[in-house]
Amino acid sequence: MSSSNPLRDPADRRLPRIAGPSGLVIFGVTGDLSRKKLMPAVYDLANRGLLPPGFSLVGFARREWQNEDFAQEVHDAVKEHARTPFREEVWQQLIQGMRFVQGTFDDDDAFERLRSTIDELDKAQGTGGNFAFYLSVPPRSFPVVIQQLKKHGLADQEGGSWRRAVIEKPFGHDLKSAEELNKVVHEVFEPDQVFRIDHYLGKETVQNILALRFANTMFEPIWNRSFVDHVQITMAEDIGIGGRAGYYDGIGAARDVIQNHLLQLMALTAMEEPASFDADALAAEKTKVLGAVRLPKDLGRSSVRGQYAAGWQGGEKVIGYLQEEGIDPRSKTDTYAAIKVGIDNRRWAGVPFYLRTGKRLGRRVTEIAVVFQRAPHSPFDHTATEELGQNAVVIRVQPDEGITVRFGSKVPGTSMEIRDVSMDFAYGESFTESSPEAYERLILDVLLGDANLFPRTEEVELSWKILDPIEQYWDKHGKPAQYPSGTWGPAEADEMLARDGRSWRRP
Ligand code: BG6
Repeated sequence: MSSSNPLRDPADRRLPRIAGPSGLVIFGVTGDLSRKKLMPAVYDLANRGLLPPGFSLVGFARREWQNEDFAQEVHDAVKEHARTPFREEVWQQLIQGMRFVQGTFDDDDAFERLRSTIDELDKAQGTGGNFAFYLSVPPRSFPVVIQQLKKHGLADQEGGSWRRAVIEKPFGHDLKSAEELNKVVHEVFEPDQVFRIDHYLGKETVQNILALRFANTMFEPIWNRSFVDHVQITMAEDIGIGGRAGYYDGIGAARDVIQNHLLQLMALTAMEEPASFDADALAAEKTKVLGAVRLPKDLGRSSVRGQYAAGWQGGEKVIGYLQEEGIDPRSKTDTYAAIKVGIDNRRWAGVPFYLRTGKRLGRRVTEIAVVFQRAPHSPFDHTATEELGQNAVVIRVQPDEGITVRFGSKVPGTSMEIRDVSMDFAYGESFTESSPEAYERLILDVLLGDANLFPRTEEVELSWKILDPIEQYWDKHGKPAQYPSGTWGPAEADEMLARDGRSWRRP
């Protein structure tokens, strides 16, 4: 029976979504993010035919560059990091709309030059006054850039054109600073002009959480406290902090990724079915989950932080965090964090959500494991089920993208012995299309004005509300436990789960 709803938008959602006339201005264009992710993503979008013919890319930075130097930088970044093959004809078209504006953020003349560059592009490239401003800059520079955009009339949407601000994380370092930042942004931009990037939401596997849960019938009936024992969300990295000491020290793992990526993954895993996949409906459900999060009373027993010590990674000897260049040898910054939270609602009452992340762990893997209760009664002899674990649905976010279902199966033979087996879905085997990079999806959405995959002010602030008490507790109590690089984090994290009669998965 058809369940089509005549009130719904009849547009065919399978058709490629192509951006209309527009341009992108990147502040902080000489930074790592821009070189490794943003510029390659723009090229990949152009290569896939998803950008308008006159699309324009403007770089703004202090460097003494001419347009040609900027174009060369983009070229090198694309050659090194783009996902799709380099095609000269795509490049030649893209380069037509590339401009560079030299200046510092407090330089009024530079912002006037930016204004005239945009006017010139409107005429030469037909961008129609539609520009997104991407702030890939440290948070301390947000206010000045936002104010300059306002002062020079760059945030004004005149004659049906649009102006949008794209803001990279971190959105502050606690609730108070996030509120201040949001205030500054909203003094200049309306809420629907602001796009906050959480690049995890741009990942295919993360969007697939919605498909898995709400396009199927077999998971949702058991996705609740009656069947789920607990949920583990892991984001493990094998890399250290690299050259990011300036950003990372004093911020740490919990602020860097739990406050945003992990809490967003948790919200998508735990939320109710939204009335639609519109930005408002989706945000409303995620917000309810974040608002229902409850921290255990004893934070000492339900949170763990660690710091990587020297060790071995991929056969190489690596140094510890305190020996990294630019790190204060007395630093108490966490490079590993694990927390336990509850969600106070009817669906999840009593089900713990364990979130962990760390740098220099055993290997790079992000996954969400929904672990089910054991069968209420076992008709088997206990020796038959000694090696049977708990059933689980594991959403493998990266790098081996897919979904695993773990359950028990009889070992072939004349006796009854039951062991865990896996049923696997792997993207590579089921689909011929490769997944776009998160930044491709998110930049395209900004140009289309599609806000579904961007956290709202309220979500950001609620996430800080969850994290602040933990950070404050850590501030007052002790310091992070050291763990050797290449291991799975401090023993305290294992003990935290062991106290609940559980253990972390070893992905
Ligand atoms: C960023 C963090 O948001 O995500 C980094 O600031 C982290 O510390 C990165 O390395 C991981 O992203 P991905 O997409 O490689 O998992």
